[in-house]
Amino acid sequence: MPTDNYIAESLELHLFFGRIMKEHSFFLKAGFTPANPHFAAKAEYYKNEFERLLSQAVSLSDGIISEKVLDSGEIVTEFTRIAERQTERLTGIRIDSGITDRELRLSCCNTGRNTEMYLRVKNMNRKALRLLDGLIMLKEEILDKVLSCRMFTMNYPLLIEHILREAKLYRKYVRMLEENGTIGIQSMKETECFWNRIMMEHALFIRGLLDPTETELIKSANAFAEDYAALLQSCNNAQNKALTVDSRAETLKFRDFKAAGTQGIESCKIRSLILPLLADHVLREANHFIRILES
Ligand SMILES: [Fe+2]
Ligand SMILES: [Fe+2]
Repeated sequence: MPTDNYIAESLELHLFFGRIMKEHSFFLKAGFTPANPHFAAKAEYYKNEFERLLSQAVSLSDGIISEKVLDSGEIVTEFTRIAERQTERLTGIRIDSGITDRELRLSCCNTGRNTEMYLRVKNMNRKALRLLDGLIMLKEEILDKVLSCRMFTMNYPLLIEHILREAKLYRKYVRMLEENGTIGIQSMKETECFWNRIMMEHALFIRGLLDPTETELIKSANAFAEDYAALLQSCNNAQNKALTVDSRAETLKFRDFKAAGTQGIESCKIRSLILPLLADHVLREANHFIRILES
């Protein structure tokens, strides 16, 4: 049987990215107009499939995953439950919040692995790879149509590119698990550059989705975008040992900004085009980045 890491790493990966993929599919579905019912149905299909995958991951994860991941706020936050309820009501698209309740009750750490568990996780990884191939193709098809002006959606083209990048990273990690039994030694520089770009784009989305009257918040979002653009540049330019410290400090600040934003959106204090679940989604991704930077 491969390393114990295989089971825990696989489950931790699905708990974070499985939810991210189901929410990307949700955002895609919510962004279509009546002109694209077929694409909306495809997005709904992946939302449901990743919801099922996430539900399986939650069932297998209790007592297995690490305390660090459990406490990171990357799986679920204190806002997720309300965000889901509000988003479901606002869009009319169903969300299985039972999964969130089960996630909130998960405990750690490192017990109860056996051969049956190994086989179930292996199955999940294979299923995840199949689903990811399909979802990546769908996102590429949507991006291609949007960029050639054959499709209109309420999602920015950059958002479609962005969620495509995240899906490809997830697939890369599942492939590593299947090929080497572990996610293995990743270049910290590469990981850091990846997530700095993601954070920069979140700042750009927030800036662009705020109501034009939200002047102060727009200024703050813009300042975060500029900070991350600078971090990304130094990240791409050289192996800078001090960079991790800067990325962590910036992301701690950005996390607080996102948390305040999520709270503001949930309590209807901010004018925007941001769904509560999108606010919580980008907050979880910041928490994930912080956990990586601190590990
Ligand atoms: Fe995302
Ligand atoms: Fe993102």
